[in-house]
Amino acid sequence: MLAATPPMGWNSWNTFGPRIDEAVVRETADAFVETGLKDAGYEYVVIDDLWEADERVDGRLTWDGEKFPAGIPALAEYVHGKGLKFGIYSCAGSHTCAGKPAGYGYEEIDARTFAEWGVDFLKYDFCYLPPGVDGIGLYRRMGQALRAGGREILFSICEWGGMKPWEWAASVGGHMWRTTGDINDSWKSIMDIGFDRQLGLHAYAGPGRWNDPDMLVVGMRGEGNVARGGCTDAEYRTHFALWCLLASPLMIGCDVRKMDDATRELLTNPRLIAVNQDPLGRQGYRVGQMWWGGQRGEVWAKPLADASVAVGLFHLGDRDRQRLTVPWESIGIDRHRPCLVEDLWSGEELGEFRVDYSTVVPGHDAAMLRVVPRNGPQG
Ligand code: GLA
Repeated sequence: MLAATPPMGWNSWNTFGPRIDEAVVRETADAFVETGLKDAGYEYVVIDDLWEADERVDGRLTWDGEKFPAGIPALAEYVHGKGLKFGIYSCAGSHTCAGKPAGYGYEEIDARTFAEWGVDFLKYDFCYLPPGVDGIGLYRRMGQALRAGGREILFSICEWGGMKPWEWAASVGGHMWRTTGDINDSWKSIMDIGFDRQLGLHAYAGPGRWNDPDMLVVGMRGEGNVARGGCTDAEYRTHFALWCLLASPLMIGCDVRKMDDATRELLTNPRLIAVNQDPLGRQGYRVGQMWWGGQRGEVWAKPLADASVAVGLFHLGDRDRQRLTVPWESIGIDRHRPCLVEDLWSGEELGEFRVDYSTVVPGHDAAMLRVVPRNGPQG
């Protein structure tokens, strides 16, 4: 099954925006291999908007020859040669959001073109819809065209959440769908998109069908196309932890050719990635919220295939350190059940606990745990 677990990869938009070219894409594919991202599971190298030429040629899309002198098919081949998959971007309207020619009325020929070029992933945006046109119908058309196009292509729907895509996107062939507008590299954006706008969506996700709260800003550090001041290490940890619990696609947005050690370690943490990629495919949800002096803490939980539960304890306030607690009952475990608790950041076993587990979390930071119920009769 395509996208049996949340897709993992990189997309050019967050850092490069219009400054994307074939050297960046090749060097990104090289960096996937050299930095361990590929071994960690990152697979798709995706070019976002502004790869396109200004006009179609003989009715077909073609690439900007200055940015991509060797051409898109050669670039796809290069990415495939690294054992990776290649993705591209287009749009359901007459033009892409940046004003380049797009799919409206050309769905079949474009899907065939992408298949011929060796495309494995299509992000399909929602700008420039002709007035009165049924948007869902356009996604259905492209979904059908992709199926008929002769190549397995992951369909990433980017409708921004306005028409509740969680209710229809899988039925038109979508494997993932954006649930909100665009993320940017700031704590405010992570709070808004991650913590406030994903509530209630968990029942719609599962193998082959994922809610997409947008690409990661981890490691951007205030530089690039969607930079808005950047985030601290703690804020990037919180962001990554939440996206793993949400079973979100993990599409890296920083410049992976220049990742610092903290960024690389965070993005390749095998225990966090195992939570995101867990074969049960359940999306995590909020199980607790607490307030103290205007500050907020939240507890999110994601049930895993082996009957353990991944838990994030998030201190969303600015000040101080706060003790946060996950009661066993809030995550569906009998309060008397002894459970092993593992720190997922470090892999350290923290011991065996009953009733609950609590720990002190600094502002904007997160504890990430796995709670493993012990089998056998309860004492
Ligand atoms: C929209 C999408 C972004 C990006 C840009 C490209 O804003 O939501 O993710 O693809 O278009 O123009």
